[in-house]
Amino acid sequence: MATTVLVTGGTGSIGSLLCEHLSEQGLEVTILSRTKRENSKYKTFIWNLKENFIEAAAFEKCDYIIHLAGAGIADAAWTPKRKKEILDSRVKTTNLLYNFLASHDHQVKGIISASAVGYYGQITSEKTFKEEDAPGNDFVASVCKQWEEGVNRFGALNMRTVNLRIGIVLMKKGGALEKMIQPFQYHVGSALGSGKQFIPWIHVTDLKEIILHSINSLSMKGAYNCCAPEPVDNLEFSKTIAKILNKNMWLPNVPEFVLKIILGERSILLTEGSKVSSEKIMQTGFDFKFPKLKSALHDLLG
Ligand SMILES: NC(=O)c1ccc[n+]([C@@H]2O[C@H](COP(=O)([O-])OP(=O)(O)OC[C@H]3O[C@@H](n4cnc5c(N)ncnc54)[C@H](OP(=O)(O)O)[C@@H]3O)[C@@H](O)[C@H]2O)c1
Repeated sequence: MATTVLVTGGTGSIGSLLCEHLSEQGLEVTILSRTKRENSKYKTFIWNLKENFIEAAAFEKCDYIIHLAGAGIADAAWTPKRKKEILDSRVKTTNLLYNFLASHDHQVKGIISASAVGYYGQITSEKTFKEEDAPGNDFVASVCKQWEEGVNRFGALNMRTVNLRIGIVLMKKGGALEKMIQPFQYHVGSALGSGKQFIPWIHVTDLKEIILHSINSLSMKGAYNCCAPEPVDNLEFSKTIAKILNKNMWLPNVPEFVLKIILGERSILLTEGSKVSSEKIMQTGFDFKFPKLKSALHDLLG
């Protein structure tokens, strides 16, 4: 019988590509969403955080939960209200799933959850962060820490728990790349801030494969960094985009203070960035199809 997955955030940029991929690979895909979509290709169940509600039928056949739901981290200014939404949409949804499974009979074998490389904090340094490193102290690090702690609780329900610390996901539509290339298309692209901050990136094809690999590799448990093995800083990243789009990069770096004025606290996502190791996921037998930025960007933009 086909493995059945229940994907939260299955309607999002990563989720919709993932659902298509898992379905093509023969898995039975279902979605847990805040809204019923009549035209969805996948059976969609509803949850509602405010009302503490999940449709019980969502778990009837579910073998694995893939937890991707969360309000966009970079999509809006970090007001106290937005910060709460970013946190609650990840941690409280995790708790809602946990509370349901803890109080009902079920056969769910595991939960594979998104987290982010932001777990380590936005720190520009020569240090390469590994899974055993401590979490950082900034807002995103605190969200990731609480999110992962929520996911780890499922271990007490005899479920396998996997936290994928995802880097910036490069894809054709949606996601960061679309925004990053815009200035280059108008001939005004340049590096940001010092240009020395790392961009731990991953091609969406590799991320989809890592999620499938996490379902199939029964020995995988705990945290795994999901970013390509080649570390690239913002300057190198910007130069590679310019080269692939055949544009000149003639402007000086956008100063940090300008980004801070425009984006406020969120600017840290652009001006700082850590170098993150991909050794652990590769040791599980995972091979990146796009280990190098140039070939990843060629595939997506070429
Ligand atoms: N994209 C990246 O570069 C990246 C990098 C690192 C980590 N991640 C993590 O990977 C996950 C998926 O990313 P994505 O880029 O695909 O995100 P996305 O396109 O913004 O989609 C996220 C999904 O989460 C659900 N959602 C949104 N706001 C919510 C809220 N307030 N409460 C509950 N559910 C909510 C929505 O599903 P419904 O409308 O169907 O409910 C939405 O489709 C996120 O958790 C993100 O933090 C992404």
